[in-house]
Amino acid sequence: MVAEFNDVAGWTADAVEQLGDRYAIPAACRGSSSPAALAWLAEACELSAGTRLLDVGAGVGGPAAWAAERFGVRPLLLEPMQTACRAAARLFGLPVITADGARIPLRTGSIDAAWCLGVLCTVEDKAVLLGEIHRVLRPGASLGLLVAVARGPASQAAPDGNYFPTQRELVSLLTRAGFRLTEQTNRPGDAPLSWSRRAEEVTALVTATHRATRAYKLAARQGRRLNHLLATDQISMQLIHAVVTEREAVWSY
Ligand SMILES: C[S@@+](CC[C@H](N)C(=O)[O-])C[C@H]1O[C@@H](n2cnc3c(N)ncnc32)[C@H](O)[C@@H]1O
Repeated sequence: MVAEFNDVAGWTADAVEQLGDRYAIPAACRGSSSPAALAWLAEACELSAGTRLLDVGAGVGGPAAWAAERFGVRPLLLEPMQTACRAAARLFGLPVITADGARIPLRTGSIDAAWCLGVLCTVEDKAVLLGEIHRVLRPGASLGLLVAVARGPASQAAPDGNYFPTQRELVSLLTRAGFRLTEQTNRPGDAPLSWSRRAEEVTALVTATHRATRAYKLAARQGRRLNHLLATDQISMQLIHAVVTEREAVWSY
């Protein structure tokens, strides 16, 4: 996980600095590589100029930078990996908080909308993460999620540190945290070549520079495992829009 989310993040920023600014957003969308997926989430969450958007597990910051550029939102990035935080600040100059999503250092009800893209499946205690996101969102606010959902029981081939929820588990987690799932799709549309070619050029430069390192080999193995699960239909990428409701009351007798 450190190799995948920390080392590769720094290498990605280095490669973008060599290739040019227009490579930054496609290369820095690490869980969500399609602009169609981001547009679906942005429209579902009704993002607009000035919306305070918290991106939890923001990685290198591509999705938040895209939302700022296209929708005029005011993004705030939260990411636990220090090198990824530095990479996001270097590439986009956006405000970044280095913290874990289980303890978000923000006031209750202070955020208009949140994204959490490709993060939930890497977190063991999903209820705590969703509970914290719920706490910092204002009443009625939107949450956009990109989640790899398991079709059946957990696979042995899952990348290290990944815990994929089933659809039923995901709905239950959201409901218990105080969200209502309003809409879901797995067909947002592919990225156009103008986007995917830039992302691939950055990946090729990172590979050429770092392929001999242990961190690169570990990260590549994680990627292969994830692709295998997707190709064999054991997991599917789901985009989800949910809104803040009340937490389910927990009764004790
Ligand atoms: C697949 S990457 C996605 C990055 C970004 N959201 C994107 O779509 O480009 C998953 C990110 O989740 C972060 N992450 C993992 N555990 C986390 C936690 N407990 N709280 C917040 N972020 C976490 C990782 O460091 C990594 O940057």
